[in-house]
Amino acid sequence: FFTIQPTEIFMSNETIKMTSGEYVPIEMHKVRVVQKLNLLPIEQRLKAMEDAGFNTFLLQNRDVFMDMLTDSGTNAMSDQQIASMMVADDAYAGSESFNRLQEVVEEVLGTEYFLPAHQGRAAEHIISQVFVKKGDIVPMNFHFTTTKAHIELAGGKVAELFTDDALEIKSDKPFKGNMDIGKLKDLIKTHGKEHIPYIRMEAGTNLIGGQPFSVENMRAVRKVADENGIMIVLDISLVCENMYFIKMREPEFMDKSPAEILRTLCDLSDVIYFSARKISCSRGGGIATKNKELYLKMRDMIPLFEGFLTYGGISVREIESMAVGMREAVDWNVIRHSPEFIKYLVDSLDKKGIPVITPAGGLGCHLDARGFLPHLSSFDYPAGALAAALYIVSGVRGMERGTISMDRDEQGNDVPSEVELLRLAFPRRVFTLSQVKYAEDRIEWLWKNRELIGGLRFTEEPKVLRFFVGRLEASSDWPQKLLAKFREDFGDSL
Ligand code: F0G
Repeated sequence: FFTIQPTEIFMSNETIKMTSGEYVPIEMHKVRVVQKLNLLPIEQRLKAMEDAGFNTFLLQNRDVFMDMLTDSGTNAMSDQQIASMMVADDAYAGSESFNRLQEVVEEVLGTEYFLPAHQGRAAEHIISQVFVKKGDIVPMNFHFTTTKAHIELAGGKVAELFTDDALEIKSDKPFKGNMDIGKLKDLIKTHGKEHIPYIRMEAGTNLIGGQPFSVENMRAVRKVADENGIMIVLDISLVCENMYFIKMREPEFMDKSPAEILRTLCDLSDVIYFSARKISCSRGGGIATKNKELYLKMRDMIPLFEGFLTYGGISVREIESMAVGMREAVDWNVIRHSPEFIKYLVDSLDKKGIPVITPAGGLGCHLDARGFLPHLSSFDYPAGALAAALYIVSGVRGMERGTISMDRDEQGNDVPSEVELLRLAFPRRVFTLSQVKYAEDRIEWLWKNRELIGGLRFTEEPKVLRFFVGRLEASSDWPQKLLAKFREDFGDSL
């Protein structure tokens, strides 16, 4: 592996150079439909945060200025996608809309068989119910929250086989999403291949900062899988960004098109699934495979849990927009937009010494809450506290990806997360550079005033996926102190 030269390696040949030499990401689209935003005064933002139980999932969108909670279902759609929704065929069975989607999936992923599911986690539900048995173990480069929950629901466990440097916050490693091949071989030896239903690879590894894996790594995983007769399940929800980094960082693929890179990854997999809320800027999901036998094993679950085979719980209008979005998912100008904007924010914060995951990945900018708030322990929920503080001082809504996002262990103890992150997602083609600069400014102010931020504690705590609807409170009057300092520094500014 080579390491990253700070600016060069990220510059696509098509990056527009500025006379000043400054790196400025440029939108390769124009905005034609807009949505009005509110920026409430800080006093009202603090009230909104209290009403939301210090959980950004529970904020109302009308109280949010920049919604950086997720890119899921919030990417901007293209004019072609919107137009396609007008010609949807709403037949329950044999819909033309579904036929169009199936054709595009086959063209883009190279898979003959396709099962629609209402979103990514529904695909995970089907795959884990069909293939995972009690006592099984599923190796993966890193877990995603819903993936882990579904595997455990089916009686299995996940084993995360990331490389030793994957969780380093400040790094120049190009492929922190790689699977550790040695650990994979050891796991198969220890547990026995008969207890490993599949190996899961997640493109654009979400929970460690949208970090990619390389084709070289995927080929090595395939080799081990073949030697042991184990299948590979590939999650391509975030594959666009992973493809971007493969093209930018893996010499063999620098001259390959995104479509060729995606086919290379899919050809190395047995079952492919996705959240269309991410990959195709629409809403829905699906499972694709070349293997008829695997398809038949999963097929009957779709009418039972999702809907008939030609809609799978997805509106036909969304099926049409998925079809167009899947084609656009291999358009370089669509792919490059969000990693280039993310890089802009990550590099700007990094230059100021603000702890942020480097190199910039896909999906979003990830602030390292442990580095930001070293005076807090994992049990004070630093990523949750930072999410609340950032919303209060800016109206920017991010997502906690730390200890709150972990569930308690069987003894009821909090499980400190390996990384404590505040994710600021970049829904594709949604924010302008001035909005990104505003977020940067408020993060910098928060960094200078970080010692004011205190911890959180639960007041209502669900047992599973508690981060979604759990309610918390500040463990001291730190939010009020933060507000007072904001007023002192910014006067009557919003
Ligand atoms: N796999 C990955 C890698 C994901 O990021 C997600 C969703 C899913 C599966 C589940 O898909 O939401 O359509 O059911 N990630 C969203 C996020 C929730 O905000 O990162 P879904």
